[in-house]
Amino acid sequence: MTASDTVEAVFKAVAASAPDVRDGLAGRRVYESTDNPTGDRQLAADVYADELLEERLLEIKRVGGYASEERESVIEAEAEGEYHVACDPLDGSSNLRSNNTMGTLVGVYEEPLPAAGRDLVASGFVLYGPITTMVTAREGTVTESVIGDDGTRRTVETDLTLPGAPTVYGFGGRVPQWSGEFAGYVETVAEELKLRYGGAMIGDVNQVLTYGGIFGYPGLEDRPEGKLRLLFEGHPIAHIVETAGGGSSDGERSLLESVPESLHERTPLFVGNEEYVDRLEAALSG
Ligand code: AHG
Ligand code: MN
Ligand code: MN
Ligand code: MN
Repeated sequence: MTASDTVEAVFKAVAASAPDVRDGLAGRRVYESTDNPTGDRQLAADVYADELLEERLLEIKRVGGYASEERESVIEAEAEGEYHVACDPLDGSSNLRSNNTMGTLVGVYEEPLPAAGRDLVASGFVLYGPITTMVTAREGTVTESVIGDDGTRRTVETDLTLPGAPTVYGFGGRVPQWSGEFAGYVETVAEELKLRYGGAMIGDVNQVLTYGGIFGYPGLEDRPEGKLRLLFEGHPIAHIVETAGGGSSDGERSLLESVPESLHERTPLFVGNEEYVDRLEAALSG
């Protein structure tokens, strides 16, 4: 099995799981009594998606380990494997009760986890919207597929790139918790783009991939590292957007330059058209 076959097997397994994850949501909108390692209250749907993906991904030859936002530590495969998968099984799970978009994120690293962004060989996300779609980045190109009820993918766009004329923006966190520099930057962006913030990173980033613009979740006064997780959210989404010709930042440099010390490390996260990412870094450098 080549590297490319392994990546394809991971994408195929995530796509095949999408109808099962989607079908499992309606009856799993209740909270478990547990929190995940970054303190999110876990929905039954979070745990269900995580267990389903762990099983399917660890079955793949050459996948040596599975880590997820919902698990304290890496789950090692029985057989050795040089690829390590990091998963956000359900991104935006707080949108479940309000029936808004959610997604599944996957990153394929060629080093044991936690690994550097530059160790990503492929990344992808499933978006549970009116249509179930999957966006994947590998070998320098981004592809969008529609996932059928049978879990197979139909390619609908190849070489996906961010549009040159950006139109949307969305930033998380409460405004009083934003730094003065960041609030000032958002004021300029708000004069140029339309606010689109749906509370699930994958849905919000897919709007940026479709219409151009910028999405972010900044560091906050009371939480300077922000909310989003570097390994499970930052790296894969930055890899997708940068492969689509956009930029990413933690406020200072590309998220792919970051090497997490711990599995569940958080990071400020910004992705979108390079012009807006560059202006953000200039605004935050004071
Ligand atoms: P998850 O459901 O995997 O914990 O991720 C939720 C994240 C991300 O999807 C979204 O951008 C952000 O939380 C929204 O946070 P707020 O609810 O604070 O806006
Ligand atoms: Mn969560
Ligand atoms: Mn998430
Ligand atoms: Mn999640």
